[in-house]
Amino acid sequence: LTREAQAGDRFGFEQVAANTEDTITLPDGFEWQTVVQWGDPLWSDVPEFDDATRGTAASQARAFGDNNDGMAIFTKDERTVMAINNEYTNRKILWGNRPEGEPVDSDDIEKSMMAHGVSVFEVARDDAGQWQVVKDSDLNRRITPRTEMDLTGPAAGHDMLKTAAEPTGTKTLGTWNNCGNGETPWGTYLTCEENFNGYFSTEDEAHEVSAELKRYGVSSKDWGYGWARVDDRFDVAKHPNEPNRAGYVVEIDPFDPTSTPKKRTALGRFKHENAAVVIAANGKAVVYLGDDERGEFLYKFVSAGTYSATGDNTDLLEAGDLFVAKFHDDLRGEWLALTPEKTGMSEAEIRIHSRQAASHVGATTMDRPEWVAVNPTKVESYVALTNNKNRGKKPNAGGDDTSVNGPNPRDRNKYGQILRWIPDNEDHASAEFDWNLFALAGNPDVHDDAYAGSPNINSGNMFNSPDGMAFDETGLLWIQTDGKYTNEGDFAGMGNNQMLCGDTATGEIRRFMVGPKECEVTGACWSPDRRTMFVGIQHPGEKGNSHFPRGGTSVPRSGVFAISRTDGGLIG
Ligand code: FEO
Ligand code: CA
Ligand code: CA
Ligand code: CA
Repeated sequence: LTREAQAGDRFGFEQVAANTEDTITLPDGFEWQTVVQWGDPLWSDVPEFDDATRGTAASQARAFGDNNDGMAIFTKDERTVMAINNEYTNRKILWGNRPEGEPVDSDDIEKSMMAHGVSVFEVARDDAGQWQVVKDSDLNRRITPRTEMDLTGPAAGHDMLKTAAEPTGTKTLGTWNNCGNGETPWGTYLTCEENFNGYFSTEDEAHEVSAELKRYGVSSKDWGYGWARVDDRFDVAKHPNEPNRAGYVVEIDPFDPTSTPKKRTALGRFKHENAAVVIAANGKAVVYLGDDERGEFLYKFVSAGTYSATGDNTDLLEAGDLFVAKFHDDLRGEWLALTPEKTGMSEAEIRIHSRQAASHVGATTMDRPEWVAVNPTKVESYVALTNNKNRGKKPNAGGDDTSVNGPNPRDRNKYGQILRWIPDNEDHASAEFDWNLFALAGNPDVHDDAYAGSPNINSGNMFNSPDGMAFDETGLLWIQTDGKYTNEGDFAGMGNNQMLCGDTATGEIRRFMVGPKECEVTGACWSPDRRTMFVGIQHPGEKGNSHFPRGGTSVPRSGVFAISRTDGGLIG
């Protein structure tokens, strides 16, 4: 049965109302189950999560990490593997068993480090049809900030990537703050390093970092992780090149736990959200990339080589051209090439200081580009521009003007928008495109100006701060939010963060799911038979007011949840 035949319309579900419950709310005819939560062991010799201690560095290093974000599912030889980013850790909860919620010893800090990275594990349905982690599978792997990786591509070996501990600039340890993801047609997982800056510090708070590091938000103070106290390389005064070795897209083979992940410098260095891969009409691999910072940019990579369905694509992301988007007010746009001629920088410098290169060519400052999603049924792409309180108020960190512009039309943008572009000649490798806004989020109950939102936003479906986005095979666009959940004032009537579904042909948007208290909804993928949609719930109770998913007085835990139809039908 097609979804339309099952339910009589394009969506196949009735919209759910906004709410502030501490649970997952779904339309009638759908149900959810927990697949994996922060601290769940991936091997049977690891103790189960303990609410009293919340684990140790050693247990966390072999258990599902915290604050899961982007994810993908892979199937080969009838085995199914999930690769899931563990972006960061909610320190108040991680150390909630400690006085003041602060680390008391180095193991606490190491535990936070081990809660970061990527979790890769086999999943299977049990006899009751419920998805479970296959503990002890030979495919299970934890990738952490200590996993050995290769630095590859145009920046590899550059002086700016060399450190005292690693003088070749071609190897590095680990990945952290892995936000969104991508997957390639050749079966690899892409994990995207976002707020890598927040982990560097030095004892002398008056220490001034370079202007180049400042552009990336690195300073003498970290965000409270204290990693420099247990690992010298996070001391930015001692090792000022270490931050240049983070901020990349990392390619991982999910079926080979012994493989060395590769940081693909060809895709540039910035606060990567996700990496949306599509094979263009001319056979090149195109990767769309957002830099999630107020007033930063939207990028595109086009491979030098051509994809082969039967050949070896191992190094397709190794070399190619990097572009940045410029939008014109006449609903046209272009991809500006970041070349040595246009930027005055070397190929390696363009990859390490991509933000500076993009500023140099006059790219359009954006309202925090979060996920890009490419429609599999039509040659068009979408990006969630989540919000930007600085729009029209102050320039970005590179000094670029952030007055309102075509795709970012509202001062101090508090609700966000979803932008669509259509490449010329139905070819994602084209240098030019048409663009328009698919949705301007807003609150029509509170505002009657541009902050009411676009016509497809109404009292019944309103939301703020679109973030995660994914297309299903049928071309429906699933939209996840990471916004204000006060349910008051400008946000009255929006409830908790949520997941909606958009029909890109008609513009209709319908709310499918409401998440628990103080969470964001992030990460989406489908089982191979499309009868399960996996959805991530990140940081429930980040302000202390949730016991999701176990209820009672339990510690709230991020996790991945399997959504299915009670009649076993297709979803998405
Ligand atoms: Fe990790 Fe831009 O969200
Ligand atoms: Ca995000
Ligand atoms: Ca977030
Ligand atoms: Ca966000």
